[in-house]
Amino acid sequence: MALILGLESSCDETAAALVRDDRTILAHKLAGQEAEHAPYGGVVPEIAARAHVEILGPLVEAALAEAGATLADVDAIAATAGPGLIGGVMVGLVTGKALALATGKPLVAVNHLEGHALSPRLADPELEFPYLLLLVSGGHCQLLLVRGVGDYRRLATTIDDAAGEAFDKTAKLLGLGFPGGPAVERAATKGDPKAVPLPRPLVGSAEPHFSFAGLKSAVLRARDAGTHAPEDIAASFQQAVVDCLIDRTKRALAQAEGVTALVVAGGVAANQSVRHALEGLAGDAGMRFVAPPLWLCTDNAAMIGWAGAERFSAGLTDPLDIAARARWPL
Ligand code: KG4
Ligand code: ZN
Repeated sequence: MALILGLESSCDETAAALVRDDRTILAHKLAGQEAEHAPYGGVVPEIAARAHVEILGPLVEAALAEAGATLADVDAIAATAGPGLIGGVMVGLVTGKALALATGKPLVAVNHLEGHALSPRLADPELEFPYLLLLVSGGHCQLLLVRGVGDYRRLATTIDDAAGEAFDKTAKLLGLGFPGGPAVERAATKGDPKAVPLPRPLVGSAEPHFSFAGLKSAVLRARDAGTHAPEDIAASFQQAVVDCLIDRTKRALAQAEGVTALVVAGGVAANQSVRHALEGLAGDAGMRFVAPPLWLCTDNAAMIGWAGAERFSAGLTDPLDIAARARWPL
C-alpha cells in the first residue's frame, strides 16, 4: 500500500495531506487566507505566495504528526504544478521537490484540475471510468469526459468568466463580502429567485460552452436600478447560474456515450442549489450522481494526494526539473 504526501498552494488555500492508495485519508491540514485578502475583495497573488511560504512547512509537519508518520513512511510526494497563481504554485512545487530530493522519494507533479477531476473517486470507491464531470470553480467551468487517469476530453469550457468568478463578482457588487460563493448562497435563501429577470447566456445554444459575463453585467444593472433587494438579486442570480449549468450539462450528457455517472467537483459544487439541480438531472437521465463531500469540493491537499496516488500506481512520476505552470489545460 502506498502512502502519498499531497501539497496544494495554487490559489489562496495552503494545504498538506497524507493519503493512502486504499482511500484512507490519514491527515489533511488546510489554512485559508480569507482574512489577508478580504480587505481587497479578492485574492492578491503576491500576498498569497508569501502566506504559502510561511504556512506550508508547518502544515506538512502537522499532517505527519496527526498521521503518526515520518517522511520515511511516505512513498511519493505529490504537489500541484499548475494551473494557478504562479507564485503560489512555485511555493508548493519547490517544497515538493525539496522533500523529494532530501528523502529520495519520487515526485508526482499534479495538475490541479486533475486533482478536482479525480477527487470524486477518493470519496466513492464505486465510481468507475468513464464519467461526465462538471468542474465548477473560481477559475474554471468545464465539462470533462473522464476516461481514465491522465485521459480527459474537454467537451465544454467557459468563453468568458468561470461560474465561481461570477459568484464572487456578484457578492462584491451586492456588498455581501468575500469569499463570494457562500455569501451569495446565504443571501439567496432570503430572496425570491423569480424577482429579478436575468439572462441565461447560451442556454439552448447548439454550441457546447458556458458564458457568465452577460449575467454579471445584468446583476450590475439590477443593482444600479435600485428597485430590488440584494437578497432577491442574489437568489435570481443563483437561479440563473443553476439554469445555465443544467442546460449545458444536459446537452453534454446527450452526447457523452457510455458514461454511467454525472459527477460534480470544484468550489461551486459546495452550493446546495447547484447540487440538487444536478442530482435531479442525473435522476432524469437514469444515471448515478456523485458529489464529493463539501470540504473535498473546494481546494484541498487530499485531492492532490489522491491524484498523486492514482498517478503513482500507474507508474507516472516526474523529474525534479519539471516547471510550474500558470496555465495548464487538462
Ligand atoms: O475550487 P475552488 O476552491 O478554487 C478554485 O480552484 O477556483 O473554488 C472556489 C470558488 C470561488 O469562486 C467560490 O466563490 C466558489 O468556489 N464557491 C461557491 C460556494 N462555495 C465556494 N460558489 C457558490 N456557492 C457556494 N456555496
Ligand atoms: Zn480548485
